[in-house]
Amino acid sequence: MSDILSHTEGGVCTLTLNRLQRKNSLTAAMYAALADALEQARDDAAVRVVVLQGHETVFSAGNDIGDFLATPPTSQDAPVFRFLRAISTFAKPLVASVCGPAVGIGTTLLLHCDLIYAGDNAAFSMPFVNLGLCPEAASSLLAPRLFGHARAAETLLLGEPFMAETALEWGLINRIVPPAQANALAQQQARKLAAKPMASLLETKRLMKQGSGADVAQRMQEESLSFGRMLTEPAAKEAFTAFMQKRLPDFSQL
Ligand code: COA
Repeated sequence: MSDILSHTEGGVCTLTLNRLQRKNSLTAAMYAALADALEQARDDAAVRVVVLQGHETVFSAGNDIGDFLATPPTSQDAPVFRFLRAISTFAKPLVASVCGPAVGIGTTLLLHCDLIYAGDNAAFSMPFVNLGLCPEAASSLLAPRLFGHARAAETLLLGEPFMAETALEWGLINRIVPPAQANALAQQQARKLAAKPMASLLETKRLMKQGSGADVAQRMQEESLSFGRMLTEPAAKEAFTAFMQKRLPDFSQL
């Protein structure tokens, strides 16, 4: 079965991360499939809303580390950056359902969603520094803007995780429910959106995002240049190798 499932019904296109054996970590092929799906959803008049969901035990473990080592995304055309451009410029409403770990891009992609429903087991983290990397998805801009600098510094500089209650308090998510109910709630809210006049939805989202579009695009590009470079540097190599070898990284010489 495919690692990304896509299903459209009643104006709602649901994209499901489906690589449970690797905790829904994302490969280049999965980013490409997600980018393709979002581009199709953008152009398909039958799609009014997109839902992004994982499994009730895990949303996503972030980038697949082995895949990153093998094929680091070094150009702007890399699937991961294509996906980030597609999600950050997506004009129709985006609803997410998040349960369990949401690591790295598993959290930063949420900064581009409109409504987010979380299981009470949701655990968000952006451990880029711990991996010898820097933020992506314009999270260096959007996390401080949404959470405030002090809170963003704990999550981005220290790489500390935060749980669903904190995400609710900080304004990242809309509601917390038992994990088994999160996907159903996201569908219910998406169906409500799909029943509304499309032009009003599009115009309202456009107006809500108007002040930040250019800033987001510029920051994502700047981040992606640094991220691509840092991926091939010693700190990231040490972090990724340590993960594969199931040991703690040693940054003492770096
Ligand atoms: N890339 C590649 N493989 C990954 C992965 C990732 N990001 N995350 C998990 N996996 C693999 C594990 O290596 C393990 O493989 P194995 O069965 O061959 O040992 C399998 O998926 C199950 O993961 P495991 O760590 O045993 O599950 P867990 O429930 O104990 O922990 C996480 C789940 C998500 C908390 C943990 O896997 C994790 O921290 N992953 C790395 C997250 C990360 O740093 N991502 C990069 C962000 S930029």
